[in-house]
Amino acid sequence: MTQNPLAPGWLLHPDDANELPSTVWSRNAARTASGELSVAGVAVSELAARFGTPLYVVDEADARGRAVEARESFDREFARVGSGAKVYYAGKAFLSTEIARWVTEAGLYIDVCSGGELAVALAAGVDPGRLGFHGNNKSLAEIDRAVASGLGVIVIDSLIEIERVADAAARHSRVQPVRLRLNSGVHAHTHEYLATAREDQKFGITIADAPAAVAAIRSHPQLSFLGLHSHIGSQIFESDGFVEAAKRLLTLQAELLTGGPIPELNLGGGFGIAYTSGETAMALPEVAARFADIVSSECARLGIPVPVVAVEPGRAVIGPSTFTLYEAGTIKDVDVTTGESSAVRKYVSVDGGMSDNVRPALYSADYSVRIANRTSDADPALVRIAGKHCESGDIVVHADYLPGDVAAGDLLAVPATGAYCWSMASNYNYLGRPAVVAVADGAARVIVRGETEADLLSRDVGVPAARATGHDKSSAAGVSARSTTDREAS
Ligand SMILES: Cc1ncc(COP(=O)(O)O)c(C=O)c1O
Repeated sequence: MTQNPLAPGWLLHPDDANELPSTVWSRNAARTASGELSVAGVAVSELAARFGTPLYVVDEADARGRAVEARESFDREFARVGSGAKVYYAGKAFLSTEIARWVTEAGLYIDVCSGGELAVALAAGVDPGRLGFHGNNKSLAEIDRAVASGLGVIVIDSLIEIERVADAAARHSRVQPVRLRLNSGVHAHTHEYLATAREDQKFGITIADAPAAVAAIRSHPQLSFLGLHSHIGSQIFESDGFVEAAKRLLTLQAELLTGGPIPELNLGGGFGIAYTSGETAMALPEVAARFADIVSSECARLGIPVPVVAVEPGRAVIGPSTFTLYEAGTIKDVDVTTGESSAVRKYVSVDGGMSDNVRPALYSADYSVRIANRTSDADPALVRIAGKHCESGDIVVHADYLPGDVAAGDLLAVPATGAYCWSMASNYNYLGRPAVVAVADGAARVIVRGETEADLLSRDVGVPAARATGHDKSSAAGVSARSTTDREAS
C-alpha cells in the first residue's frame, strides 16, 4: 500500500500499524502474547472492564523513573561544574496528591501556579519548603496562603507583586525567599501559545526593568532574593533558545551581583517530548549536560560564581508515562477531494474528545493512536480520531495509520497524554472527567476517580438534590457521567 495523500509529510505509511514505538509509549507498555496492549502487566481489556473508558492510564514506574532521571541528571552535571541543581516538577502538567508524592519521593521540588495546585501539594503532605509558586496574577489570598504556609519560594512576576509579597511576609513575620521572572525576549521555536518569552505576552518583566525590580526586592527586609527566573516556552526541541536565555540572564546576574548575592538561577522547563513518530524527545541527561556546560562557561567568562541552577520540567516527567484509553464508536470513510485527486480519510469517533484532551484543538497538537485490544494484519488506513463533542475541531488525533479493519467496540489507546490533558480537562457537553488509574507491578488502582452524573448535577441549584444539600455530592445518584455501567472508577 502507498502513502495516503492526505497524510502529513512526517507520517509515513507503516510496515506494522500495531507497533508501539518506545519513543512515544511508556516504558512498561507492551503487547501480550495475544496481541493486546498491556501496561506493567495489566491488559487494557481488564482496565476498560474495571474502570470504564475514557480512562487515563499512568505507568507509575515510568513516571517515577523519569522524575529520578531528571534529578540525577541535573545533580550530576551541576556537581561536575562545582555547583548544584534543584529540579521542580511543574505541577500544572498533571497534579494529584499521588503524583505529588511520587515526584517528591524522587527528590524533586514542585512548582504550583494557583491556590488550587498549592492545596493539592499541601494535601499530599509535601514539605512547603520544597514548593515554588508561579503565576502572572496571583491573588492577594493566594499570596497570603503561600507565605503563611512557609513556601520555599515565590516567583515574582510583576512590580506590584514585590510589594504584595513583602506585605504578606511582614504580616506573617517571615522572610520570604523570592525569584524574579524575566521575559528574556528569546523566541522559542514552538507553537505561539506555548512561547512565553516573546516581547508581546503577559509573563515576567523585561531585562531592562530588572535592575530596579531587584533593588526593590533587596530593599525589603522581609524578602530574600534567591535569583532570576526564565521560562521561554513549552514543547521545545532545540537547546539554542535556552542557551541564549541563560546567556542573557547571566550577563544581568553579573551586573546585579555588585548589589548582593544571587545564589540561584532558574531556567524553567519546556523540554519537548515525542507525541508521534515524527518527533524525538529532548533527552534530559543531554539537556542537563548542555545547561551545565553553558552556565559554567558563561560564568567563567563573566568572572562570577556558578549558581545553583533550578529547572522546572513538567511534560518531560509525566507526559510519556500516560496513555488515554477510549472505545471506538462510529466509523465513517470520508472522501476528500483536493484538486485533481481524491482520497479517503477514515473518521473514527471515540467516547471522549476535547473534554479530556483539548491540546489538538488548542495548539493543533499531534498525537498517535493504536488499536489496543488486539493486533491486526489488515492494510493500514489513514485515520482521524474524533471525539464525541459538538465541534468539528473536536479531534484527538489528526492523522495516523491504523489497521483498516478498526471497528466499533475496539479499544483505542492514545499515548503520551500525561501532560496538559487531565489538567486541562473540562466538562464540555456535560461529560464527566475520566478517572486516572496508576498501574504498577501487575496491579491497577484509581488515583483520581472519574466524575459521576451526580458530580455534574451537584452544583446546579435547580436540581432538587443539589438545592437541598448545597454541594453534597454524595446525595445524588452515583451514576457515571460517562456510562451507566457501575464501575470501580465511577
Ligand atoms: C513557569 C513554567 N515553568 C515550567 C513549565 C513546564 O513546562 P513543561 O511542562 O513544558 O516542561 C511551565 C509550563 O508552561 C511554566 O509556565
